Amino acid sequence: MALSKLNSLYMALIAEHSKNPHHKGTIEGVEAVLLNNPTCGDLISLTVKFQEDRIEDIAFSGDGCSISTASASMMTDTVIGKTKEQALELITIFSEMVQGQENAAQEKLGEAELLAGVSKFPQRIKCATLAWHALEKAIERSQQA
Ligand code: FES
Repeated sequence: MALSKLNSLYMALIAEHSKNPHHKGTIEGVEAVLLNNPTCGDLISLTVKFQEDRIEDIAFSGDGCSISTASASMMTDTVIGKTKEQALELITIFSEMVQGQENAAQEKLGEAELLAGVSKFPQRIKCATLAWHALEKAIERSQQA
C-alpha cells in the first residue's frame, strides 16, 4: 500500500476510534487497574473480566489523548476472547512495534497494527502503550490472586 494511503488510513482510524471508542466504560464488580502516563498525567482505568484463563470482557475509561484512546479501543477489540498468554504476546508485539522494531507477527494485532506509525513520534509512544501496559498489570494481578 502506498505510504500516503497508509498514513490517511492511520489518521482516519485514530480519529474514528477516539471519537467512538469500543468497550468504553467499566465492568461492574471488577476491580479497576489504574495507570497514568507519567509524561502528561493522563490516567486510564481498565477493568478486565477473566473466565478462567481467557479475557471474557474488557472495558476502559479515562481522559487520555486521541492516540491513547484509539489505542485502548483497538487493544480491547484485539484481546477480547484471547487467553492471558496470547494477550501477553500481543502486548510484547505492540510495545516493540511502536518502538520501531518490525515483527512478522504484527498482523496478529488487527487494526492496532496501523499504530506502527507512532514509532516516528517518540513522545507519543507512552500514549499508545498506556492501555496495553494496564492490561499487562491486570493479567499480572489476576495471576497473583
Ligand atoms: Fe496524555 Fe497522550 S497526551 S495520554
